Amino acid sequence: MLGAANLPLNELLAHFGYIVSILMFMVGIMLMGRVKTAKNGNRLAAGAMLLAVIAQLVQMKTIDPVWIVVGLVVGALIGAVASIRVQMTQMPEMVALFNGSGGLASLLVAVAAYAYGGIPSQPLAGATIAGSRGDVNGLAVMLSILIGGVTFTGSIIAFLKLAEKMSGKPILLPGRHAVNILLAVLVAVFIALGVWVLGGGVGLALLVLVILLSFIMGITLVIPIGGGDMPVVISLLNSYSGVAAAMAGFALGSHVLIVSGSLVGAAGLILTQIMCKAMNRSLANVVFGGFGAEAATGGGGEYKNVKSADAETAAMVMADAQSIIIVPGYGMAVSQAQHAVRELAKLLEAKGASIRYAIHPVAGRMPGHMNVLLAEANVPYEQLFEMDQINEEFKSTDVVLVIGANDTVNPAAKTDKTSPLYGMPVMNVEEAKTVFTMKRSLGGGFAQVKNTLFECPNNFMIYGDARKTLEEIAKAVKEG
Ligand code: TAP
Repeated sequence: MLGAANLPLNELLAHFGYIVSILMFMVGIMLMGRVKTAKNGNRLAAGAMLLAVIAQLVQMKTIDPVWIVVGLVVGALIGAVASIRVQMTQMPEMVALFNGSGGLASLLVAVAAYAYGGIPSQPLAGATIAGSRGDVNGLAVMLSILIGGVTFTGSIIAFLKLAEKMSGKPILLPGRHAVNILLAVLVAVFIALGVWVLGGGVGLALLVLVILLSFIMGITLVIPIGGGDMPVVISLLNSYSGVAAAMAGFALGSHVLIVSGSLVGAAGLILTQIMCKAMNRSLANVVFGGFGAEAATGGGGEYKNVKSADAETAAMVMADAQSIIIVPGYGMAVSQAQHAVRELAKLLEAKGASIRYAIHPVAGRMPGHMNVLLAEANVPYEQLFEMDQINEEFKSTDVVLVIGANDTVNPAAKTDKTSPLYGMPVMNVEEAKTVFTMKRSLGGGFAQVKNTLFECPNNFMIYGDARKTLEEIAKAVKEG
């Protein structure tokens, strides 16, 4: 803080605003780590963003602030309308679009920094950003453009796949690895030339080339990835958008952008790792593997001795049960059965049963998918248990209700080495006294493999849409 006394008041206030905003971002992301505090974390981070913009306005003298206010209002309106209108099942698409916007914004900021030699109110050391030998800001500009461009087009492809506006299957172009390596080498050469060797018109041409290559790389990176792996890719792109913003922060000399971008970059990367681990896949396998391009082979075969039950029978067994664990999966999200589950759970609790919900880390199609849906139906937080906390409890449980979960409850993941699921940690539901599995058919889950749970002697399939089945069971429980 040496020399702070010499700063004009507006600069001093702005720097104070930046520091408070950085702290708010950090606490916000910490609060987002727990379901109970996540909403407040989100609000705090949104407040931090607003404060950072206000601090920038206070600091600026030379640029007309009207443009920033217009941007703020238009951006806030788009964000508000999108968040009100979007369905919970469309959340991954929206995140993809937001990541893409973040990437494009960082790219544009970097281009502006290149064009203007820095934001006028924040003169940078070495105003000619790119083109001068050994100029670190030039490298930040180039990297922000590269990562921002990859994030932008990659996110657009991710959005199109998730919104089913193009095939969600992996598209495996011949020689794609060679093409990717060639693109990476080219872009590295152009960046090196652009930063350290050339300036002026040639520097500009190199910058344009990096933009074009980054757009192509975003497409070639995401096109070979399958629909079900898209959440991992979105998390990765989210991380990229943070890194691009941090690079733009270096280019502008903006601490708040460096810190907030790094937070997003690190959080996205950690989440990507968590998802990969829970799916028993490596990140390289997700990004380069083309998972799901062909039908899975492991664990195939016809089903034998599968038993089924109707809603009335299930209601009878559940009404007598002392302990019940509900295991939701992607099918619960598809049928929007979360409210029906909650209603049934209340009825069973009134009959004296203890109810717990077991949440697999990759149940559904996005991180926290089940938590969000169950929270929407006001399921008490204390009834939610993560897999590690509850997996030992199934063997002492009377009834397990599997609602549209498939891969995450497949015992073959523990025993069948040929199964693509082999090694993925799964819920030990088959250890309970009785299991009721609700789904529409014996069809596969995301991994499209046979589920040996369906053949277990204590498992009973209840075929049909999960929400309808739950409503029928609830009706039967009520009628006694
Ligand atoms: P899945 O294995 O995806 O199976 C979902 C099941 O829901 C399907 O077998 C389907 O069977 C059933 N279903 C669909 N619509 C239904 C409806 N209206 N009513 C009742 N059932 C319905 O589910 P899961 O156990 O949640 O596993 C998630 C999978 O996604 C894992 O393999 C995981 O690795 C993968 N994945 C998850 C994530 C994240 S972050 N969560 C990210 C990427 C990939 P029917 O067609 O027979 O009804």
